[in-house]
Amino acid sequence: MSKPREFYNNFQSKLISDYTISNKRMESAIINLGSFIPSSTENILDIGCGIGWSTHEFAKALPHSKVVGVDLSPVLINTASKLFSRENLRFETLDVTRELPENLFDIIVMIDVYEHIPKDNRQAFNLSLNKILSSQGRIIMACPSKFHQLWLQKNNPKGLQPVDEDIDFEVISRLSKDVNAEVTFFEYQNIWNQNDYFYAVLTKNPRYGVDEQFPELKLESKEERQARLKNQLKVEVKKNTNKNGLEKILSKLKKKVKPK
Ligand SMILES: C[S@@+](CC[C@H](N)C(=O)[O-])C[C@H]1O[C@@H](n2cnc3c(N)ncnc32)[C@H](O)[C@@H]1O
Repeated sequence: MSKPREFYNNFQSKLISDYTISNKRMESAIINLGSFIPSSTENILDIGCGIGWSTHEFAKALPHSKVVGVDLSPVLINTASKLFSRENLRFETLDVTRELPENLFDIIVMIDVYEHIPKDNRQAFNLSLNKILSSQGRIIMACPSKFHQLWLQKNNPKGLQPVDEDIDFEVISRLSKDVNAEVTFFEYQNIWNQNDYFYAVLTKNPRYGVDEQFPELKLESKEERQARLKNQLKVEVKKNTNKNGLEKILSKLKKKVKPK
């Protein structure tokens, strides 16, 4: 098994913990990046969807769109498929550096994913994104900033993942050129620290002077998420469960879902 796949097969406690305790990084990315998805969107691809939290929220907010979540890890995709089921939503295990779904997408989402594409694969990946991004499609993405990566490299290298590249505006401009798009939005964010993340939107053939409609994104509440974990995964998190308690509960889940 490849090192990244093995790593992400063991990443589900972290992602379920983010989901359960309302991780600020994810909530902010879903709400803010989701605000760039027009109501008229037909097809959405969520790359590196993990346990499918963002994928599900977008499928819920845009019931007329077909939404696909893909991830390298079969363990995460297995959990996503159990947690979330909707008619307009499906999940697939895929290494996006090797292949991408063949149809066209109006929106391609990457939340904390582009930095995990190895630098050597980047341009080929960019060109393959171009093939599946529709003529007025958008890539909407969140990445840790180069400032945050530098801080991790110096102060907490264990916090870095097997592939964890530095992504800055120059890299985003290159991606934008490779997919024949314009950078229509780029903004640093203060999630845990000043300027630790950025959000970017790359748009092919941006419209001018058109009033687009955007749906209201209302995330499921913490209580609804905990009920989903209980009903779909048989993981019961009590109101006062702290981080340690959660780790204990999730370690049982890990044994139930064996990596392929
Ligand atoms: C930092 S996690 C982000 C997960 C989720 N989007 C979030 O923000 O919580 C990175 C995700 O990208 C996925 N990933 C990394 N390399 C990938 C690849 N080559 N193909 C598909 N998914 C990949 C990992 O399995 C993991 O779920």
